[in-house]
Order: sequence, then structure tokens, then C-alpha cells
Amino acid sequence: MAQINENYLKLKAGYLFPEIARRVKAFAEANPAAKIIRLGIGDVTEPLPPAVIQAMHKAVDEMADRNTFKGYGPEQGYDFLREAIAKHDFQARGCDIAADEIFVSDGSKCDTGNILDIFGEKNKVAVLDPVYPVYVDTNVMSGRTGAADDSGRYGGLVYLPATAENDFTPTLPKEKVDLIYLCYPNNPTGTVATKETLQQWVAYAKANDAIILFDAAYEAFITDPSLPHSIYEIEGAKDVAIEFRSFSKNAGFTGTRCAFTVVPKQLKGTTASGEKKEIHPLWNRRHTTKFNGVSYPIQKGAAAVYTPEGQAQTKELIQFYLTNAKLLREGLEKVGISVYGGVNAPYIWLKTPKGMKSWEFFDELLSKAHLVGTPGSGFGACGEGYFRLSAFNSRANIEEAVARFQKVVS
Ligand code: MLT
Repeated sequence: MAQINENYLKLKAGYLFPEIARRVKAFAEANPAAKIIRLGIGDVTEPLPPAVIQAMHKAVDEMADRNTFKGYGPEQGYDFLREAIAKHDFQARGCDIAADEIFVSDGSKCDTGNILDIFGEKNKVAVLDPVYPVYVDTNVMSGRTGAADDSGRYGGLVYLPATAENDFTPTLPKEKVDLIYLCYPNNPTGTVATKETLQQWVAYAKANDAIILFDAAYEAFITDPSLPHSIYEIEGAKDVAIEFRSFSKNAGFTGTRCAFTVVPKQLKGTTASGEKKEIHPLWNRRHTTKFNGVSYPIQKGAAAVYTPEGQAQTKELIQFYLTNAKLLREGLEKVGISVYGGVNAPYIWLKTPKGMKSWEFFDELLSKAHLVGTPGSGFGACGEGYFRLSAFNSRANIEEAVARFQKVVS
């Protein structure tokens, strides 16, 4: 008898974004003339930067020639990419991260879930609420939680509320936790963490022998020069943190897939008998056993992000989406909506008008304005009464979305 992993039965109906897609599909089928604008999932719309495309074309040509053809690459990523990442993303910001502490992968979503493979099942896990659902669902799948309650919270997880009342800066856990997921700039609220906030987390992790799983997929959207881009800008963070980064949102790789995870060599965890063990070899073992590397042309494209042309072009791309975010923010504020985020992040987090429930507002926006956003409650109990809009879209769609939004709300 083939038994199933019953932890999957604990998961709530569907992963948030497929559930939105299901509702939108049903609406579109019933209303074929409706011109729907999608500001739900944070998926990029603008083409890859020319420097990236050029590098990819060149790499494809290399694959066409016996002399330059490549089969399996190193699972951890080619040196040319790992070295460029270490130099530009870390060493240039004063973080002492070496190329062999970087593991190239096909996505931060996968990595934030897969990382649980190397941690014990009894770890106490803390997440912010609202939270990127992948952190929670992968913990459910791997049996680290109990069942969900009526508000959708799973037993065994520690939820740290991040709401307008605490300025989206959750207080540190009162109890001792072992693994802490942090995402800054934050998905879904678009808010940020100051150096002081991250210093407090690093100090907490040190005091409690905890490890921080730091998702920095949106760091390129930081405009405020005082804000840290990497947790390794905080002294001591190499002893307590793993960082996840992605080319998806800064360079448009959501469809081509390339990301990386940083596991410092000095980071240690503890065995059941209390012995300290390095995390790096565990992740190396996991990565090389279950993953065969990102394709050569894609890694060449990612490396082109770090060339002078690539840097200029990705900067332009990010500025384009940030201008979209500004238009959304200002357009919504004009009709009296309370808006958060969208300054150092591509997400706008808003209070639903008239105290509406998140899914109620989703349905109203879809049916009356043919606009799709993401209900805040889909990100956690504390997201109820909030709504997320993504700035990833064409300028024309953003302008049209603002006009439609204002019509529905005013
Ligand atoms: C989101 O909309 O939250 C993102 O698209 C999630 C992701 O990057 O996986």
C-alpha cells in the first residue's frame, strides 16, 4: 500500500496564486469582453535586458559547437557567475562573502522550501504575519506544524504580527524559536527593515542559537541608501543567517529561472546531542544530490546582469517598476486609501475601503473594475482587511488600473 504524506492534507484549499487564477479564469469565461488587468501575482512584464539577451544568444551558439558545447555544469553554479555575485552583490557592499558560499539555483521560492531538508523536524519556526505563503506551506508539507485553525494559522508555528499598528515591524518572539523567516523588502507589505531592526534579529538569533532565513529577493528595489540590502551588512550575521536572492524581479528572470542562496561557511547548527555542525556541507550535499544546476545559457545571462551595460539596464528596469509603484500609491491615496510599501519595493499594501474583508474586496474589484489584486488574508490572519497590488505591469495598464480603481472606490 502506497501511503501518502498526510501533511499535505493539512494544507488549506489551494496555494494563494493558483486560487486567484482559478477565480479570474471563471470570471473571464463568464465575461469574455472584460479587459482584465492583473496586479495579483508579482510577475514581471518587461523583456529581459539587452545585455542579458545577448549573453544568452552567445551561450546558445557555444552549445551548438562541439568545441564549446557543455554538458552537466557544476551543481553549485559556474565560477564565472558565483564570482560575479560575490564581488558585486556582497564584497562591494562590505560583506565578506566568498564565491564558494554561493549556490546558484532555479529560484528562491524553491530554495526557501528546500532548505528545510537540512533542518531537524523539531525546530520551532517563526514567520511574520502576513507572510509569503511558501514559508508556511513548506513547513506544513514537511510535518513541522499541526492543523490549521479557523483563521488559517497552523499549530506549532510562531506568528509575528506585522500590521499598521506596529508599523509593520514585528516584535521579537517572546519564546525561543530556532528558525526565523525574514523577507526584506517585504513581500507582501512592501515595507523595509532598517539596520537597527536587523541588528536586533541577529542579536536574538545569537542569543537563542537560532538561524535566520533571510529572503532578499526584492533588495534591488531599495531606494533609501540607509537601508541594508543584505543581512550580511549586519555584524555577526554570517554566524546566524542564510540569504536567498533572485534574478527574477531585478532582471526579469521569472520565466528563465535563476537565483542563488548564500550559506556562510562559519554558520553552524546543532545536533540532537548538542554538537555544533557546519551548515554549508549539508546544503552542498543536498544541492548536489537533488539538483543538477541551472543551464549554461541562463547562467551566462545572469552573469551579464553584472556587466556595466547589464547594471545600467537592470537599474532602468527597476526604476520603471518603481515609477509604476509610485503611480499606484499616489493614485490610491488621492481617493483616501491608506497605502503602505511601494517606495523600496514593487508591492503596494493597502487597507481595504469601508472595512471590507480582503476576499470581498477582491471580488468587488474584479467584478466592477476588472482588476486583479491579492487578498491580504491569503498571506495570513493579520493580512485580513488588507490588499496587495503588484507594480509589475506595463505603464498603460498601471495608468488604466489607477483610473478604474479610483472609479470603484470613490
Ligand atoms: C508574489 O506574487 O508574491 C511572487 O510572485 C511570488 C514569487 O515570486 O514566487
